[in-house]
Amino acid sequence: MSSQLHPNVLWVQLAGLLLLLAPGANLARCPEQCVCDQIQLTVACVNKNLTEVPPAVDEITVKLDLRGNNIQELPTGAFKHTPYLTHLSLQRCNIRRVKEGAFRSLGRLVFLNLANNNIDILYQESFDGLSSLKQLLINNNRVEEIKPGAFSQLGFLNLLSLMHNQLVYIPNMAFQGLQNIKWLRLSHNSLNYLDIEAFAGLFTLTRLSLDHNELQFFPTETMTRLPQVTRLDLSYNPMTYLGEETISMAKLTHLFLDHMSLQDMANSAVSTSPSLVHLDLGHNQLRVIQPLSAGTPNLARLVLAGNPIYCNCYLRPLREWGLRSKVKLLGSCGGPAHFSEENLEAIHPQDLRCQSQDAMLKAEFEEANRARPPPTQEPENKVKCPANCVCEADTHHSSCENRAHTKVPRGFSPTTRLLDLRGNHFHYLPGNSFPGVAQVVSLHLQRCKIVEVEAGAFSGMKGLIYLYLSENDITSLSPDTFKGLPQLTYLHLEKNRFTAFPSGAFKLLPSLLALHLENNTIAKLEPDALTGAEGLRGLYLTGNAINQVSPRALQQASDLDTLHLGGNKLKVVPTQALSKAGNLRDLRLSGNPIRWVGPDAFGPLGSLKELYLDNMGLEKMSRGSLAGLTSGLRSLFLEGNQLEEVPNLHPLASLEVINLADNPLMCDCPLLPLRMWIEKVNLKVRATCANPPELKGRRVKDVHIFKACPGGESLPSTPTLGPKLSKTPKSNKPKPTHLNRRRQVRMPKVKPKARKSPTAKLTTNAETRRRA
Ligand SMILES: *[C@@H]1O[C@H](CO)[C@@H](O)[C@H](O)[C@H]1NC(C)=O
Ligand SMILES: *[C@@H]1O[C@H](CO)[C@@H](O)[C@H](O)[C@H]1NC(C)=O
Repeated sequence: MSSQLHPNVLWVQLAGLLLLLAPGANLARCPEQCVCDQIQLTVACVNKNLTEVPPAVDEITVKLDLRGNNIQELPTGAFKHTPYLTHLSLQRCNIRRVKEGAFRSLGRLVFLNLANNNIDILYQESFDGLSSLKQLLINNNRVEEIKPGAFSQLGFLNLLSLMHNQLVYIPNMAFQGLQNIKWLRLSHNSLNYLDIEAFAGLFTLTRLSLDHNELQFFPTETMTRLPQVTRLDLSYNPMTYLGEETISMAKLTHLFLDHMSLQDMANSAVSTSPSLVHLDLGHNQLRVIQPLSAGTPNLARLVLAGNPIYCNCYLRPLREWGLRSKVKLLGSCGGPAHFSEENLEAIHPQDLRCQSQDAMLKAEFEEANRARPPPTQEPENKVKCPANCVCEADTHHSSCENRAHTKVPRGFSPTTRLLDLRGNHFHYLPGNSFPGVAQVVSLHLQRCKIVEVEAGAFSGMKGLIYLYLSENDITSLSPDTFKGLPQLTYLHLEKNRFTAFPSGAFKLLPSLLALHLENNTIAKLEPDALTGAEGLRGLYLTGNAINQVSPRALQQASDLDTLHLGGNKLKVVPTQALSKAGNLRDLRLSGNPIRWVGPDAFGPLGSLKELYLDNMGLEKMSRGSLAGLTSGLRSLFLEGNQLEEVPNLHPLASLEVINLADNPLMCDCPLLPLRMWIEKVNLKVRATCANPPELKGRRVKDVHIFKACPGGESLPSTPTLGPKLSKTPKSNKPKPTHLNRRRQVRMPKVKPKARKSPTAKLTTNAETRRRA
């Protein structure tokens, strides 16, 4: 009873004391370094480096602010002279230890702040006497241990905050005595284990914050002992899985399980928490989620933001369940590409489809390769975008890939630079199909089942440089098809149904440099085929059915640099036609049924650097067949033929690579020129003897027979040990153009126009997509 004196009694005592001891003296006392307000009855001694609680604080003080001192240790009875305190602030006081009974006299204290000190242990009697305390803040200390009974006297406490401490483990009954606790904040500790009875007895607790800890499993049993908790925050714990009926909390309405590492959860994980309204699963690793099983009739929001949710047929049940159960799904798709960033709520369940196995794998691969935007990034400024498309403001890319559009969507942002419409069902492209997108640089129309392109379909696309019409069903093009494309440089028409070269269709394309017509069924190249495409540098006709090339077919191709005619039906080298292509550097005739190459078959083509004559069934090349190639030729591919002999290589002073693999070479004197040439260049040459039988399988370079041939005397007698051996390291050095290596198809050099930088980026994107 003595410590709980009635205030009136105390006031009487106090008055008597003052009258007795200090008649006429200053009524209130104020310590030297402090600021005292005698009306509010507050004393503030802030940032004064005090090493102890100032003893001279007026007894009637109700608020004492001692922030920023250097008190180190709070002794027993530290505040015995100020029994009327309701608020005590002790932040930043370097307090390491609170001794038993330090606050013993503070029966009226409502608010105690001990944040930002160095307290490591909460002792049994540390908070004794604080029988009125409502809020206790011990944030930002080093608390790692709570002794049993530390809070046993805090029967009125509503809020206990122990954020940013070093708690690893909460023992049974740690919070015993907190009979009125409402909110317990244990965020930002290192908790990895909670004893089953850790929160036992907290019958009034409604809110528990355990975010930013190290819990790897949901502590089901511990939580089940918290019957009144409505909000539970477990964000930022490294949990990976939630099993069946993991969360069994009768009153729980808000559950935060975001920013964890969840990869999967049972669909009944929350089904025994019947009051649940809001479930936050954001920023986990969830790709697919099943509809939650019954048991949460009040659930209104399921947050899935920041998960790599894969929006295909596997997600459809969830989306349908959301609609049926009126649960709002918050978040967006992480893939496949065409749904990327799409709002889950905006996707119709029917659009959640699965493609073929292959397409899915490919899509997943693409998705996995996509760099994810940093999570802090604000959503983009909304950019104009047609329905069922995805448009990115920062990259100026718009995509409606594989969306079964039957008409080219309208309403793209005028700043769009890459427009990806692959895999739709357009069938027919009418005139003026792309209004208002004059800045598009790259237009993708692959696999759109296009049969016909009307004149002027692309008009207005003044900036278009890349046009992909591959894998459609186009058979012909009218002369006006490409009207209004002054900058078009790369045109892809491969894998269509052309049976004739679409002559005349390119005359409105003054900038055209590369024309791809691979894998059509074009049968011949007629005279003047390239009329209007005078600037063309690359003509790609691999995989057609060309059996005839008119001598005047390449009449206008004076700039032609690359001509790919592999995989056609040519029986002879089209010598006359080639003679018009005076700047040809790369000529490919691989895989044509050419058996014989006659004298001067390549005329005077001094510019030619690479010649592909491989896999043709070639039986004979005249000795002078390469005579016209003078000194320019660097690489000659003759592998996979039937050659026993080779033509004279001597005029080819620059030849660096010759591939003669898989030819039945006859290692006898007629092959001496090859042997001499090998000696001269000292390169590794893939050439093996097939005959005579005793030399079969030996490398041409290693057989001795040539030394006996007229003119072969200068050859080393023991080739593998000869004086040239010293050069071996050089010969083993891999050359950039190594033998027998398939070379990448080179794009022709873009010389005339300096391209803007976005072009380069777009090319890369387009190329990457096509390769993937
Ligand atoms: C605080 O006290 C310590 C030692 O008592 C002293 O070294 C330091 O300078 C003091 N700081 C201030 C701001 O008075
Ligand atoms: C042409 O078809 C062949 C065989 O299907 C394929 O390997 C090649 O990549 C195709 N080329 C182009 C450019 O489509």
